[in-house]
Amino acid sequence: MLDCLQVFGIGFIPLGFTALSCFLAYYIYFKTFIFEQVKFPSAKINLSIPSECQPDWKQDKFVNSSSISDNNDKSNIICYDPATGKLLGIEKASSEQQVNEAAYAAKQAQIKWSQTSFAQRRQVLRTLCDYIIENQSQICMVACRESGKTMVDAMLGEVLTTMAKLRWTIDNGEKVLKPSRRSPGTLMMYKQAMVVYQPRGVVGSIVSWNYPFHNSIGPVISAIFAGNGIVVKTSEYAAFSRKYFQDMVRAALEAHGHSGDLVQYVTGFADTGKALVECPLISHITFIGSANVGKKIMESASKLLTPVTLELGGKDCAIVLTDADMSQCNSVLMRGVFQNAGQNCIGIERILMHADLYDNFVKEMTTRISNLRLGSSLEQQNGVDMGAMTMGNNFGFLQSLIDDAVSKGARLVVGGKPFSHPKYPNGQYFEPTLLVDVTTDMKITVNEVFGPIMTVMKINSAADAIRVANSSPFGLGASVFTSDIVLGRQVSMALNCGMVNFNDFAVNYLCQSLPFGGVGISGFGRFAGEEGLRAMTAEKSYTEDLFTAIKTKIPGTVDYPIKDADKALKFTQSITEFAFGSNFQTKAMAAMNLGKLS
Ligand SMILES: *[C@@H]1O[C@H](CO)[C@@H](O)[C@H](O)[C@H]1NC(C)=O
Ligand SMILES: *[C@@H]1O[C@H](CO)[C@@H](O)[C@H](O)[C@H]1NC(C)=O
Ligand SMILES: *[C@@H]1O[C@H](CO)[C@@H](O)[C@H](O)[C@H]1NC(C)=O
Repeated sequence: MLDCLQVFGIGFIPLGFTALSCFLAYYIYFKTFIFEQVKFPSAKINLSIPSECQPDWKQDKFVNSSSISDNNDKSNIICYDPATGKLLGIEKASSEQQVNEAAYAAKQAQIKWSQTSFAQRRQVLRTLCDYIIENQSQICMVACRESGKTMVDAMLGEVLTTMAKLRWTIDNGEKVLKPSRRSPGTLMMYKQAMVVYQPRGVVGSIVSWNYPFHNSIGPVISAIFAGNGIVVKTSEYAAFSRKYFQDMVRAALEAHGHSGDLVQYVTGFADTGKALVECPLISHITFIGSANVGKKIMESASKLLTPVTLELGGKDCAIVLTDADMSQCNSVLMRGVFQNAGQNCIGIERILMHADLYDNFVKEMTTRISNLRLGSSLEQQNGVDMGAMTMGNNFGFLQSLIDDAVSKGARLVVGGKPFSHPKYPNGQYFEPTLLVDVTTDMKITVNEVFGPIMTVMKINSAADAIRVANSSPFGLGASVFTSDIVLGRQVSMALNCGMVNFNDFAVNYLCQSLPFGGVGISGFGRFAGEEGLRAMTAEKSYTEDLFTAIKTKIPGTVDYPIKDADKALKFTQSITEFAFGSNFQTKAMAAMNLGKLS
């Protein structure tokens, strides 16, 4: 009884705080949106995940080859769970005709959708929010089955990020897309000038397989909020789950009386992607994938001059300087490297560790990495830290990078080869690897690894770190760790890249107000944030008269046909002097001339 009271008493303080902050958050939220929630209530979606994605799914057919292609039929995609090798089934690659039909159907639906209000669009997004929150573990199961990742990795990388994007768009999207007033300048002071953000029509998105849920839903959120239709081409490695994601988005639209055709999912190999890029109905392409494929996308897009946003991966570094808080940094770096088995475009691919901290760091990482456990978190509840590799045909490449590094003097401390899992002999696993004493002459410092390999390089100063960091042709994200705020900011600003997190990793993506993208061969253009949402629109510059009574009148001197060319020339010269002359005298003279000449 006493124990019970004590527990209650101690528990009461945090409970009180939680209740108070929940109440406050709720109050602010409701104050802003109460009217809209009443007028445009969200709906429930009745949609279950495919039975294959349930943890207790039984399947005794396994794939024996790491290839997803079928030599007997090139349009087949062999889908399987990379963590166990269990066969999920065959999906068909979408043909060029199917891609064109998808774009056409989306266009028909978009004509009506473009007339909806922001409140109606938010309603659809809120319905999605509710569904995701209530069914988050189910969604993670789908992502796990498709990609071989763990449930925790899915929660963080798929659900948390998607919710952050939905929330930001619901709360800020309208503000970002409403017409923006601009200064008309002195000459045009009798005008109102503004930019109007109109839908592009139907946009296309070609997305990578590393986050099957987030990558296929993320582009839809900004595209439809801006009034567009969208055709998403999911990777052939995420072909199985796309139907479920399509059903989810369509159900959210249809629950509120909109056409589900607005959002289309296709899948397939390079041909399908090419067909989408070259489809005349597609008005913008976002591509997330490798630099080499990015070049091909741009080439195809040049045929119709379709604008592209390219997000092409990175070789992100984490710079750790002498005074970094290592108790925090160690854990952040572990996640930065091994989250999603290293299959992240913004994964930490190079750790630039200061010589003073180097030996201790290697010791600590040796212990931590040796203790990582591999497996399928759908088949076993506990004891899994890291999942499988989604692509089974990449192991030779990983191994060649490690071999090259070791031959040039790097030390392989932990792992370094494919792992044959005793429980899942058909699973595709690569040992969590620690590779140290890496130098810039090794292939592993310029090639994106996209795998569970921690690569450690020694640096002696901040200047040294900046030089090594900027030696990569990639420039996506970076992390800087130091307790010196001034130095940390200096180093951050000196890095050639699109995103930096000071004393952290990847959190810029949870601040959904920020744009995402890189420089160099990491691509260009931005998705996410204000920039990304506006990229889904065609900006229209628009002027109108401030007062209807004051209109532009062409003075007689310059009215066609011009009577006196000399006089007309002097007159136009005086206009420029009057508007832009830098001193009062020039302006006064110009004004007098204008009076005389007109
Ligand atoms: C949900 O869908 C299933 C199958 O499609 C159906 O049997 C069930 O009645 C539906 N439930 C509700 C509440 O509509
Ligand atoms: C979550 O999924 C279940 C199963 O399909 C469904 O009945 C429920 O309505 C979903 N939740 C929401 C908020 O849509
Ligand atoms: C894989 O090989 C096993 C035996 O090695 C065989 O029983 C099984 O049918 C094969 N699976 C497929 C999908 O071919």
